[in-house]
Amino acid sequence: MNFGFWNKLTRPIFCLAPMANVTDAVFRAIIAKYSCTKCNDEHAQSMHSQFITWTEFTSVEALCSDGRQFAQIDLTKIDDHSPTVAQIFGSKPEQFKRVAKEIAEAKVFDGIDINMGCPEKSIEKSGAGAALMKNPKLAKEIILATKKGAGPLPVSVKTRLGYNKNELESWTSAILEAKPSAIIMHLRTRKEMSKVPADWSQIEVMRKLIDQLPESERPILIGNGDVENVEQGRALCKKYGADGVMLGRAVFGNPWLFRNAEKPSPAEGGGHKSYKSYTTYTPTVQERLEALLEHTKLYIDTFGPDRKTRKTESSELKERDWLKNFDYMKKHYKAYCNGFTDAKELRIKLMEAESYSEIEKSVKSFTKNRKSGI
Ligand SMILES: Cc1cc2nc3c(=O)[nH]c(=O)nc-3n(C[C@H](O)[C@H](O)[C@H](O)COP(=O)(O)O)c2cc1C
Repeated sequence: MNFGFWNKLTRPIFCLAPMANVTDAVFRAIIAKYSCTKCNDEHAQSMHSQFITWTEFTSVEALCSDGRQFAQIDLTKIDDHSPTVAQIFGSKPEQFKRVAKEIAEAKVFDGIDINMGCPEKSIEKSGAGAALMKNPKLAKEIILATKKGAGPLPVSVKTRLGYNKNELESWTSAILEAKPSAIIMHLRTRKEMSKVPADWSQIEVMRKLIDQLPESERPILIGNGDVENVEQGRALCKKYGADGVMLGRAVFGNPWLFRNAEKPSPAEGGGHKSYKSYTTYTPTVQERLEALLEHTKLYIDTFGPDRKTRKTESSELKERDWLKNFDYMKKHYKAYCNGFTDAKELRIKLMEAESYSEIEKSVKSFTKNRKSGI
């Protein structure tokens, strides 16, 4: 079994969930910066993160087509020193093999993950995403083909408990036959979408299945669903026996989410026993708004029309030739500007802004008025 970077991480392992049009290269870089307590010192030069990030899912079909440069945008990475896994989806084993080989040769990512849980109709229609749960034979072929192409990179699978009902035992057994390095289990069925609470007790069932294998063949087991912070994630891993936890929606407006995933040094009061009293970092409103500005600026510099000259100031947010639509930033504004007095007014201004200067002006005048008590 090729575990690659997975076996170099201390447990529990923390992962940032792939979220299309949310966890792009820019937001991942912002998360890596704010979640790392040591980013401002010498550790910033090394791969120090105690959490792994995931790209948005990317179609192997698109990556094998003439228009591949558009799909490649979702597989970009800004060097943020955190291990990053590239997530791909599709239904044709030969395309997985080809794309996995290209990803491995590019030497940008640390692992490859196959999406076998996406419930989106357009994706399922082509036999990809959650539809693969109805076709375990093809799912297995896809894992094996990806492993063939991936060379030294470990290959994982992100999936759900079953399609219409819980089929955990038969479905997990099918995946295990192809020997993936890790399984990330979103603890709901396809039918349940995100409408019911994630069933973490199912991790215990998986643990038993996995532990029947020889030790060297046991994939890393990551649980996913409804985890709000690293303390809760750590407790769930301990209670149910997962090797790690993946967090998704909790990161909206909170790039500090993984900050406590880092083991505090003894000088910081660290050591195993102190974990319980090590609480989740809560950023101030000022810090959140500063992160919002930095996030916006990096987004425009990376995906905006003036990226060649990096003229953030003159970027018109409605111009056409963006690598990624600026409207995706608006989801972030909703999350950053939430839960404090007059957040709604600021949010509305940001939604209507037409340039970075307008955004910066609105944020600065808001913080100035807050400081003077208005
Ligand atoms: C906006 C959004 C986009 C998502 N995109 C993906 C994706 O590209 N690939 C994937 O495997 N899961 C995707 N998911 C599912 C998440 O990775 C995760 O499994 C789900 O949100 C449950 O975790 P949470 O409760 O911590 O958010 C997406 C979820 C959301 C909310």
